[in-house]
Amino acid sequence: MRAIASVNGQCLPLAEARIPALDRGFLFGDAVYEVIRVYRGKPFLFDEHLVRLRRSLEAIHLPYSDLEGLRRRVLRVIHDYGFQEATIYIQITRGAESSRHHVFPEPAVPLEFFYVEEFHDSLEPWRQHGVKVITHPDLRWKRCDIKSTNLLPNVLAAQAARQAGAYEALLYQADGTLLEGSRTSCFGVLDGKLLTAPATPSILPGITRALVLRLAREQGIAVEERVLRINDLPYVAELFLTGTTSEILPIIQVDDRLVGDGRPGPITQRLQQAYRQLVQAL
Ligand SMILES: Cc1ncc(COP(=O)(O)O)c(C=O)c1O
Repeated sequence: MRAIASVNGQCLPLAEARIPALDRGFLFGDAVYEVIRVYRGKPFLFDEHLVRLRRSLEAIHLPYSDLEGLRRRVLRVIHDYGFQEATIYIQITRGAESSRHHVFPEPAVPLEFFYVEEFHDSLEPWRQHGVKVITHPDLRWKRCDIKSTNLLPNVLAAQAARQAGAYEALLYQADGTLLEGSRTSCFGVLDGKLLTAPATPSILPGITRALVLRLAREQGIAVEERVLRINDLPYVAELFLTGTTSEILPIIQVDDRLVGDGRPGPITQRLQQAYRQLVQAL
């Protein structure tokens, strides 16, 4: 897949990009990131992603503030290399130092890395027919609202899903609370109401999640930011995932149990349609 990277403003093919071995992103996961979808050469919800990036940077006290410069550099790569359907991956790390120490280097010189990669969307059949997911314990830390590159629990959960022949793992806590997927937010319809976990430090505040909440309210769908529990699963009429590349993905099976009648439900489909209209109007 064609991909162009930028390392501290220097553009090159992604396969040739090099990061120093002592970079703190590599050593400690001392880094934050974003993933943005590009439709027909236009980044979708770019402002919202940059706002979340700023929030993540501030939360880990990473002194990088050139978000407007970053925006210009990303837009220039999309334009100059003629990207149409693509994804943007952005990662800001606390940079490299001369030897490995936990405490921040003084001064820290952040590293700005991003790449734009062609995106071939293979999920359309699944958006129509729905996917299977598994439930999996949430082994993450207490600041999941920070989009940091410390993703080992997410990676292990995603792999468990893959091995079970499922698209995603829904993460649950010891008390049975279902929070989100390893790389997606989760919504359910219970008693006619659309529910999703509230934006606390226990979840990533998904950009797609916020958009879907807005679309649902505009459509007059009753919405509540309230957690679903594992015990609710037999009673949910609909369940779906949201994410930047997943968009809105119906769930038709959780572990061995079908959701509703095992087909994407009407609220999910209405929201998918509203989402598509927004992308088409971009
Ligand atoms: C844990 C987690 N939740 C939710 C999401 C979805 O977020 P967004 O809609 O901003 O892509 C992601 C995306 O990477 C994620 O990693």
